[in-house]
Amino acid sequence: MLDSTDRSALLDVRGLTTRFATDRGLVHAVEDVSFSIRPGEAVGLVGESGSGKSTVLRSLLGLIQAPGRVSSGQVLFRDRDLLQLPEREMRGVRGGQVSLIFQDPVNAFNPSLTIGDQLRRMLRLHRADEPSDGFDREIVRMLARVGVDATGKLNGYAFNFSQGQLQRIMIAAACLAGTPALLLADEPTTSLDVTIEAQVLQLLRDLRQELGLALILVTHNLALVAELCDRVLVMYAGRLVEDGDVYSVFEAPKHPYTRQLLQSLPRFPASGERLEPIAGSVPDLLSVAHGCAFAPRCEQYIGAICDSEVPALVPASASQRAACHLYA
Ligand SMILES: Nc1ncnc2c1ncn2[C@@H]1O[C@H](COP(=O)(O)OP(=O)(O)OP(=O)(O)O)[C@@H](O)[C@H]1O
Ligand SMILES: [Mg+2]
Repeated sequence: MLDSTDRSALLDVRGLTTRFATDRGLVHAVEDVSFSIRPGEAVGLVGESGSGKSTVLRSLLGLIQAPGRVSSGQVLFRDRDLLQLPEREMRGVRGGQVSLIFQDPVNAFNPSLTIGDQLRRMLRLHRADEPSDGFDREIVRMLARVGVDATGKLNGYAFNFSQGQLQRIMIAAACLAGTPALLLADEPTTSLDVTIEAQVLQLLRDLRQELGLALILVTHNLALVAELCDRVLVMYAGRLVEDGDVYSVFEAPKHPYTRQLLQSLPRFPASGERLEPIAGSVPDLLSVAHGCAFAPRCEQYIGAICDSEVPALVPASASQRAACHLYA
């Protein structure tokens, strides 16, 4: 397990805190989140809807816009704090060294520019040292690598391609335009039908291996995490509550939330147990809990300390950390 002094980390996130100022009040979307990723490591980021997963990914790449703001923390990538980089340099990192793919491939593209134009722009940004007259050939090659025959189609617009093709084109842009070491994927296959999903997953798996990419995969599908990831991070109400290797977390979850989450899933029925959704609802993020945000729903509540102190993420087994007073 990485600790905060591990020098071999590719990405080291420390105390990341991101809030949105809304007319309902300040939404504490991400609170004091810390984790590290090693080169080539694949990490699943899971948690109920609204727990802050997308906000973490967007914060890493400086994509939080008003009314949101990263209010504190560090995002050390290859020992540079991405949160301190000027936007001009950040544009080179984004898609160059750290790439993002998301759920909705249709909206990822500008509808009024041809696909060719959009990919040429990316190459111009990330391969400034290459002559641009070879770009079209390179784009066709990149798209062929992800299974899209784009010969003669570079003047097409997003609406000329299917959803599955657009997802592949987005993956090509993310993985092949620059030389990324880290891919951030936010529910990359949720909008695809099952057959295409399997193909896109295989593609991601192949590209990761080929390029030695580290991956942070946000998903609601724990089977996908089990299949694709080495480690899993579990978020609850804006905080990281468990971090451990996939096998240990699925086999013996340490945080009561992770345990209850796994019990509620049809894909991982603990033998002989009934499948039940977790009782209660996710707290609204307008006020910060003084204690553990999961306390009201927790089946292993141990007393006043759960309501009064926010538990720190501490070792809970040889390969897991959990933010729970059970392990303090
Ligand atoms: N632009 C925004 N303005 C205001 N609040 C926001 C904004 N984006 C996110 N939030 C709030 O931040 C919190 C975390 O949202 P986020 O989208 O990161 O959750 P998530 O874990 O990705 O959820 P899902 O699984 O549904 O995608 C939510 O309470 C959400 O309402
Ligand atoms: Mg999300």
